[in-house]
Amino acid sequence: MDIPGGIVLAGGGKMGGALLSGWLDSGVPPGDVYVVEPEPDIAKRLAALGVNVGADTSGLPDKAAIVIFAVKPQMMDAVVPHYRSLAGADTVFLSIAAGCTIKQFESHLGAHPVVRSMPNTPAAIGLGMTVACANGHVSEAQKAQCQMLLEAVGEVAWVADEGQMDPVTAVSGSGPAYVFLLIESLAAAGVEAGLAPDLAMRLARATVRGAGELASRAQDAPSQLRVNVTSPGGTTAAALDVLMAEDGLGSLMRRAVAAATRRSKELAG
Ligand SMILES: NC(=O)c1ccc[n+]([C@@H]2O[C@H](COP(=O)([O-])OP(=O)(O)OC[C@H]3O[C@@H](n4cnc5c(N)ncnc54)[C@H](OP(=O)(O)O)[C@@H]3O)[C@@H](O)[C@H]2O)c1
Repeated sequence: MDIPGGIVLAGGGKMGGALLSGWLDSGVPPGDVYVVEPEPDIAKRLAALGVNVGADTSGLPDKAAIVIFAVKPQMMDAVVPHYRSLAGADTVFLSIAAGCTIKQFESHLGAHPVVRSMPNTPAAIGLGMTVACANGHVSEAQKAQCQMLLEAVGEVAWVADEGQMDPVTAVSGSGPAYVFLLIESLAAAGVEAGLAPDLAMRLARATVRGAGELASRAQDAPSQLRVNVTSPGGTTAAALDVLMAEDGLGSLMRRAVAAATRRSKELAG
């Protein structure tokens, strides 16, 4: 992967660090990447990868092709103005911060290309799901560059309407936590049904992993995969009668996603 003009990464923490590892694994030359990371231990670890690392923006080149903001959302208003001077004719600013709006970036950067994106935690193992939304200044070539950088940690989808980022946050952004809860609940229920805790947790983890992988590889829709393992009058059918009841998982998930969507809107102001 080649990004002529260089990449600046503001924030080399968990998500920034995961992206950086993905880029280097995909062949981005380390010398083309400039990371701003004030935390000395993290900075040292990143410098060992061969990328340029500084505690502040003083050592950055005059211009960059892509500037990625990977600091905590509450830091964003203080951080973004320092990067405005990097904007050349072809610079795109890419944010991975939850809840920070395109308008917020435009208020600091002016009329420049901005992409707002929302990754999720499986990005740390290259299995993330990132959804991105571009403002009107982003060219197709810049979208392709952002897509390439985000794909280094998993799948990428685009939405045209920024309003979609709230339900996106509620489904894929917060979604891993729902799946972790599913594992916890399945294991706890197994213990209640008589299994040893270690075994119950192992079964729950492996089942969610295997079912997730099967659902992602199979040609059939998840609903068909469910039907395929449900014999009439069998054990799965007995459990699904409970889970698919009117007040079952469908209703709970609708309420959970609606609550997260509402909260995402509130946080974005
Ligand atoms: N982790 C996730 O799963 C996840 C998922 C989706 C989206 N995101 C988004 O990713 C962003 C980063 O989250 P994270 O979990 O990676 O946080 P993190 O691990 O705390 O990383 C943020 C890094 O930025 C550094 N930093 C602070 N001030 C800075 C500055 N002025 N310039 C450059 N770097 C600075 C921090 O250093 P200090 O520790 O010294 O402050 C820290 O190392 C957030 O906006 C979050 O919404 C994260």
